[in-house]
Amino acid sequence: MTAVARDVDEVAGQAAWLARADRVLAGGALGLFTLPPEVDLVVAAGSAGHVVDVAGRDYIDFHLGSGPALLGHAHPAVVAAVSAQLQKGSTYYFLNEPAIELAERMVAAIPCAEHLVYAGSGSEATLYAMRLARAATGRSKVLKFEGGWHGMNEYALWGTVPATPSAYPVGRPDSAGIPGVIRDEVLVAPFNDIETAERLIGQHRDELAAVIVEPLQRVLRPIPGFLEALRTITRELGIVLIFDEIVTGFRIAWGGAQELYGVVPDVATYGKAMSGGFPMAALVGRADVMAYADARRTAQARRVWAGGTLNGNPIAAAAGVASLEVLSQPGVYDHLHRLGSRLRRAIVERGHDHGFAVQALGEDAVFGVRFMEDPDPHSWADLLAADKDLGLRWAVELIKRGILVNPNEKFYISTAHTEADIDRAIEQVDGAFAALA
Ligand SMILES: Cc1ncc(COP(=O)(O)O)c(C=O)c1O
Repeated sequence: MTAVARDVDEVAGQAAWLARADRVLAGGALGLFTLPPEVDLVVAAGSAGHVVDVAGRDYIDFHLGSGPALLGHAHPAVVAAVSAQLQKGSTYYFLNEPAIELAERMVAAIPCAEHLVYAGSGSEATLYAMRLARAATGRSKVLKFEGGWHGMNEYALWGTVPATPSAYPVGRPDSAGIPGVIRDEVLVAPFNDIETAERLIGQHRDELAAVIVEPLQRVLRPIPGFLEALRTITRELGIVLIFDEIVTGFRIAWGGAQELYGVVPDVATYGKAMSGGFPMAALVGRADVMAYADARRTAQARRVWAGGTLNGNPIAAAAGVASLEVLSQPGVYDHLHRLGSRLRRAIVERGHDHGFAVQALGEDAVFGVRFMEDPDPHSWADLLAADKDLGLRWAVELIKRGILVNPNEKFYISTAHTEADIDRAIEQVDGAFAALA
């Protein structure tokens, strides 16, 4: 068979897989996310900073499984650790060595961590964190920030992606099927607005159990003083401050956003990078708050239920231990940040060369490209100015050129990406801008 004939067969093969997906999966997809049909793909394999689709096309992967593959795909240390664990069984429910060791490493690494509770996904971790805060304070409400993403639970899906700014503190549900009774339980405030946050927290001081925040909110960095102000007022009023570090944990710094930005919450939620691409999440925090999840507590002592069949799973935990071992080696974060910084700067420069107002917002290890004039947006409302249609068209051009991204979302950099990957990505970024200009 000639190379051309094989390509044709593979392309037809991918179309057949997409059609099969369409017949059995809701929306033909795995959940929230679909690519436009002209670039839709089925992944065949991943290796280091690349994936290959079933049509045989290679992509530099800047989506990394939506973040978890911080070390790249099939990292040899993770594969070895998981293979070794697999020989010993894949789940026990009882305590196991990898789960204990991963918890030890996380408690040592994360500034706020004294104790840890495992969860199965980030959505579950934020749900438990809010529940613990309610038990610890005896209050019920939670304040979150507009544009902040805390997963799929009923308390998280308020004011996450509103088309217009919210009537603070009243948010709108993001999803159908969210019970209306939760409206009063979740207050929504604008990110990076110290005055409004302090006013709302003060007004609801007797009802608020927690303030939950992504310290790097998607692609928005906290303005100086914002996280500090949240820390001060929540400490004064006995409200639990939760940092959602599911994206930032072990990514923007070894100790996460709390280390990088120098503000330590009471509780932090972790997921994605902590388990090297295997399904697992956790919450960590002050011992007195985490103590409400102690199974030895009685119901009268406000015991919180927080557990699941696969939580603390030894395969995911073994992957996590191996990943953290790699991440703890000298120079790993320098490499990550150097590559991210190069790509970010090049995207903005090449965009300007082609006449686009484009920003690469966030941190070097994780950033988002937005087509907008404002180089320093602070809030979800500011981000509404971005041209999403242009962002989508640019992403489609990138994917056609072998650069895999999630349109209008984030670029995740991997420790497995190389300088050569970034060189190739910059060339293709230029080509994608040229195609739109
Ligand atoms: C900051 C943040 N919190 C929570 C979640 C939910 O995590 P999961 O998708 O594992 O449920 C996500 C997912 O992207 C996230 O980015």
